[in-house]
Amino acid sequence: MNDDFPAGMVWLVGAGPGDAELLTRKAERLIRAADVIFYDALVGAGVLALARAETRLVGVGKRSGRHSKAQESINDLLLEAAQQGLKVVRLKGGDPSIFGRSAEEMDHLAAHGVPLRVCPGVTTASAASASGQASLTLRGAARGITFVTAHLKAGEPLKLDWEALARPHATLGIYMGRAAAGEIARQLIAAGRDPETPVMVAVNVSRPDERLIRGKLSALSFLVATISDDDPTLLLIGEAVAPRGQGRFVSVEEVLKAER
Ligand SMILES: C[S@@+](CC[C@H](N)C(=O)[O-])C[C@H]1O[C@@H](n2cnc3c(N)ncnc32)[C@H](O)[C@@H]1O
Repeated sequence: MNDDFPAGMVWLVGAGPGDAELLTRKAERLIRAADVIFYDALVGAGVLALARAETRLVGVGKRSGRHSKAQESINDLLLEAAQQGLKVVRLKGGDPSIFGRSAEEMDHLAAHGVPLRVCPGVTTASAASASGQASLTLRGAARGITFVTAHLKAGEPLKLDWEALARPHATLGIYMGRAAAGEIARQLIAAGRDPETPVMVAVNVSRPDERLIRGKLSALSFLVATISDDDPTLLLIGEAVAPRGQGRFVSVEEVLKAER
């Protein structure tokens, strides 16, 4: 019998990229034990379905700019629920520590003396490379991986360290980069990254409608052209994600044919 989830405690739980089978066993146990679950928009329906019927499910996430609760009100909701003596799960897509704003929630709860723990999840880049039968690192070709967010704020240019990101022998995992894909390719090539560098655009990773679109860096804006705003998309760039094995790949040609 685990006693790591007393009343009044908050667990930040990684829900993985969508497929409920990518949850850790700990995450599943915590979801089953929760009195209330505050979940992000990208948490898979199959994950939420694991909650008990009496558990309150509260959506607090946003999808592509639609209205969502401000971070401060999420912090307050978590605090309030914990102070009511509930067992609280804050369920986040992927891994909570990667572009998940978990630090803000942890700081807020810690400042009010609320006991809190974190359960990691499979981040989208890991699931995408698995789906594409790629390896994020590759002996001799990719000695490291850099995760960045390329979330565009209205009217602001993307401020990334393009020189650093353009260095060869590394894989880039770009979260929230679909809208800025053209700009990303332009900047990386201008900073010296080979235009022929392989790219994998991973859409709805681990979900029934998953799509993996392959191509080269110079064609990136073209590769994302048919993806809707609603579909979560990760860009993987680097030699390590070149096509190999029997992954379920969709080429640009197939994408365009399907559109016709
Ligand atoms: C706020 S970030 C959260 C990332 C998450 N914490 C993780 O570790 O994967 C949301 C972005 O992650 C990526 N993402 C999340 N789930 C995805 C999925 N199933 N398929 C493709 N991209 C996904 C997209 O770039 C999306 O815009």
